[in-house]
Amino acid sequence: MSDSAHEPAHAAISDFLSEERRFPPPEGFAEGAVVSDRSLYERAEADPEGFWAEQAGSLEWFQKWHTVLEWELPNARWFVGGTLNVSVNCLDRHVAAGLGERVAYYFEGEPGDTRTISYAELLADVERFANVLKGLGVRRGDRVAIYMPMIPELPVAMLACTRIGAAHSVVFGGFSPDALRDRINDAAAKVLITADGGWRRGAVVALKENADAAVAGAPSIEHVVVARRTGDADGPTPMTEGRDEWWDDLMAGADPSCEPEQMEAEDLLYLLYTSGTTAKPKGIMHSTGGYLTQVAFTHRAVFDVHPESDVYWCAADIGWVTGHSYIVYGPLANGTSSVLYEGTPDFPDKDRWWDIIERYRVSILYCAPTAIRTFMKWGAEYPDGHDLSSLRVLGSVGEPINPEAWTWYWQTIGGGKCPVVDTWWQTETGAIMIAPLPAVTTCKPGSATFALPGISAELVDDAGEVVERGGGYLTLTRPWPAMLRGLYQDPERYRETYWSRFEGRYFAGDGAKLDEEGYLWLLGRVDDVMNVSGHRISTTEVESSLVDHPSVAEAAVVGAKDETTGQAIIAFVTLRGGQEHTSERGEDLRRHVAKLIGPIARPKTVIFTDELPKTRSGKIMRRLLKDVAEGRDLGDTTTLADPLVVEEIRRLSSQQPTEE
Ligand code: WT7
Repeated sequence: MSDSAHEPAHAAISDFLSEERRFPPPEGFAEGAVVSDRSLYERAEADPEGFWAEQAGSLEWFQKWHTVLEWELPNARWFVGGTLNVSVNCLDRHVAAGLGERVAYYFEGEPGDTRTISYAELLADVERFANVLKGLGVRRGDRVAIYMPMIPELPVAMLACTRIGAAHSVVFGGFSPDALRDRINDAAAKVLITADGGWRRGAVVALKENADAAVAGAPSIEHVVVARRTGDADGPTPMTEGRDEWWDDLMAGADPSCEPEQMEAEDLLYLLYTSGTTAKPKGIMHSTGGYLTQVAFTHRAVFDVHPESDVYWCAADIGWVTGHSYIVYGPLANGTSSVLYEGTPDFPDKDRWWDIIERYRVSILYCAPTAIRTFMKWGAEYPDGHDLSSLRVLGSVGEPINPEAWTWYWQTIGGGKCPVVDTWWQTETGAIMIAPLPAVTTCKPGSATFALPGISAELVDDAGEVVERGGGYLTLTRPWPAMLRGLYQDPERYRETYWSRFEGRYFAGDGAKLDEEGYLWLLGRVDDVMNVSGHRISTTEVESSLVDHPSVAEAAVVGAKDETTGQAIIAFVTLRGGQEHTSERGEDLRRHVAKLIGPIARPKTVIFTDELPKTRSGKIMRRLLKDVAEGRDLGDTTTLADPLVVEEIRRLSSQQPTEE
């Protein structure tokens, strides 16, 4: 843990760090840009619904909508009466336009294997797999769970669902069997699509074994489809007769053509589970027409995508919303050629990313600040010796990007000629909400700048009064097409979580600041949600998995500032009587959390304490624990039931080795 995450890496960079430092669009960038002047903001502001209808018009509809928006807080219906099919918009219409030979994905596996997949090939696979799903009994309106590595079969599976009108629920391949089981059960999915395994740092992630463990407790699953990826590298894959089928076998026997379902604009496109402030993940619902409209528009406008010439790489995992919107649906709707990469940046060596950019002539790179900060740690001049001259636009997402990382990205990766677009959005918003437009916006390093055309963001104070300058809670003041349509089977929690704190407003859960010139600076979550490497993790979820362990009496978890991952998970644990505070016990608890949730939720440090600091009413003071974890001054502790507890914890935590 360190306090220095926001200190400049070296002196040259510190020159850039003031709020005054400005980065206008590079010279000549506006020429031929997707959005080349500010008039779009004005047009959208004058008539937001008209603006979004115009964007929806660039999709292909079977039947045009009769009403752009029906809004009855908190429920929005966009493009009512319209019908469309997402796979048709992502595939058929490009092939019909003569672009069948264009590359949809340059796939690169972690071991170095590659596949180039054209739009025509992707369409053929999607139609076949759609028929496979039908053959397994999947019907319009059903849910299909997907638990896969980053291989081309993953977008094929998602698009095949959209073709037949089934909603998918993709579960990140790093999640545990328990996490997968809970998500399958919440959605009552009929079919699970997985793979034998995935590659991660040269080792096999045993996806099928995890899937089997999950399905043992998921009675709704009738069939499991298994794509081949790792083969017998870690032993034979267990297959259950009558339930499990190999992807290839099913594809070989499937009909090659599948008529697309004509879906209502408001039909459920997918569920994606995300952590909230309770232990139960929320099933975020996304719609068909509004979602596709906004992801396609934002992808084009924010990254200035020219599909005929750009090679675009979003280095996220499809298991998160970033991958859904900006590896699959946005890029494909726009007919873009994308890189799809299975592995981590440092495997087999630290040149992997730059090598990929150089080989595929990547022109647009979209990644998380954590990756950028990791690269910075590997050396200020890194990545020396690579030709990155193909890059045109750089994007950032997932957490606040600190000014020095922004500037390093601009200078060292972009060579000072690529706009850097910091994009704020959430699983719930479905698409980018706050970001610069690369040919239009003068950037300040560390600021996500302004709400996009058609979007209205405002800060409010505790009382809900609008804040014009300074800090406040980030809210959105009107519905947007890609907004979540609710939480799966929990309308009350939807209203309560997002629409009740400030009347008439969507509350994002983030704090932000408006500077003198109206630039927005995101400050991080104001609720009990942590952000580790751009992944959202709930403190409560980690706490419940800790108290699930028989040795634990009580646990409090905080996200402490971390130089590389943004935040790190620090757990304060009180053991049941008679249990010893050994480092083996700490290791055991960290493993337990990883087993119950997944390795991303494993606490970096476990600190044992005989008592947790509590208010007199018994509420755990997480703020104090966070101060302790970040080594800050504690200020006033007089509201505590026992102020001495905190001193004891501080003493303990300074003795605790921090594990990597
Ligand atoms: C939370 C949403 C959006 C895809 C990845 C995360 C934080 C996201 C930024 C940014 C500052 C950001 C917020 C938000 N966040 N992007 N550019 N600057 N913070 O999706 O898991 O739904 O998390 O990530 O705190 O609320 P998510």
